[in-house]
Amino acid sequence: MLEVKTKLDVLNIELSNKGKSNPFESIVCRIKSPSSIIKKLEKRGLAVNAENIYSQIHDVAGIRVICSHPDDIYVLADRLCSQDDITLLKRKDYIENPKPNGYRSLHLIVEIPIFLMNETKIMDVEVQFRTIAMDFWASLEHKIHYKKNLLPGTDDIVNELKNCAEEIASIDFQMQSIRDRIEKLYADDNS
Ligand code: GTP
Ligand code: MG
Repeated sequence: MLEVKTKLDVLNIELSNKGKSNPFESIVCRIKSPSSIIKKLEKRGLAVNAENIYSQIHDVAGIRVICSHPDDIYVLADRLCSQDDITLLKRKDYIENPKPNGYRSLHLIVEIPIFLMNETKIMDVEVQFRTIAMDFWASLEHKIHYKKNLLPGTDDIVNELKNCAEEIASIDFQMQSIRDRIEKLYADDNS
């Protein structure tokens, strides 16, 4: 997790030195709690042991990268995955294909070798990329009802949350296009 975080920090500095405003606003790491790991294994009917945690759970190490604009997500994800020691295991693009509830983010599972005292171990890390706007929606939705069993008659709440996600996504792309226009004006002015 720390290895991947460092790679993203380096990319962020390099891209801002190249005149791109910081592609990400913040980055947070977390290790899945033992109780969540146990719950996930039990839900899948798997025995709780170190071997299953290592081979079956790919999000023990997790990083969330909060980007400024949707385009920044793809630049960062692409640059990260093209590094020699990173292998992309799984890519779920919930921005191209939002979840039915409106959830948007780009999820990657990557593999990276880490060098320990007596061995090199390949470890999995889940990296979630989302914009500030997508994070705003996901954080509140999570608080309100993610994984809570919905009671009957709450379809209107689900629809309203989804509408909010769509409005937020539309503003996100509007803000990106404002940035693009301003960047173009500066570029034209300097040429
Ligand atoms: P998990 O068992 O939760 O790990 O789901 P998964 O293995 O099917 O992976 P998925 O890529 O769908 O989601 C992984 C993570 O993304 C979750 O642990 C949440 O942090 C986040 N996430 C996914 N869907 C939603 C959602 O509908 N709302 C919110 N707020 N977060 C979500
Ligand atoms: Mg998860």
